[in-house]
Amino acid sequence: MAWGGVLAAPWLPMPKADVRRMLALAHLRRGELLYDLGCGDGRILAAAARSGALAVGFEVSLLPYLLAWGRILGAGQWRQAKVRYRNFFNQSLSDAAVVTTFLTPRAMTRLGPKLATELRAGARVVSYAFPISGWQPSAVSKPTPTSIAIYRYDVGGATNKPAENS
Ligand SMILES: C[S@@+](CC[C@H](N)C(=O)[O-])C[C@H]1O[C@@H](n2cnc3c(N)ncnc32)[C@H](O)[C@@H]1O
Repeated sequence: MAWGGVLAAPWLPMPKADVRRMLALAHLRRGELLYDLGCGDGRILAAAARSGALAVGFEVSLLPYLLAWGRILGAGQWRQAKVRYRNFFNQSLSDAAVVTTFLTPRAMTRLGPKLATELRAGARVVSYAFPISGWQPSAVSKPTPTSIAIYRYDVGGATNKPAENS
């Protein structure tokens, strides 16, 4: 757990209603490949698999990694969802249609150039709570004043142009 905190974010599970909001904002379609960077207990993977997508999570902390596999196996989703015990900074993300993140601002700053280099045009990045510095979101979900903001970026769209206020 401490290792995940050192690398990019400690384990903090996302509320289930916000998981649904993430996937709705991503416009995730059947058969698309989603990567969750730091997948925790696999709740995003399971929800993505339920909607017919293929989902791969990367996780470096042992307890959430095991919980994620438990969730996937328990739901019979092993064909649609997988968890890799790996540091996502060392993985190629080039085949993703959708990347989801719930990381620290520092990690998002480090991740931005990797996403810009590796993701293909048309891919979407959906980030919980923290934006990618220097990127322009194509949409922001914040349905109530107390909701956590979720940012969507469309690679190859306005996303790669510098944001005016960041
Ligand atoms: C805030 S939690 C989010 C968990 C999950 N995505 C969710 O929304 O419920 C961040 C997770 O990222 C993991 N993590 C942090 N840095 C990582 C890295 N470089 N590679 C893989 N996992 C990492 C942590 O161990 C932690 O479980």
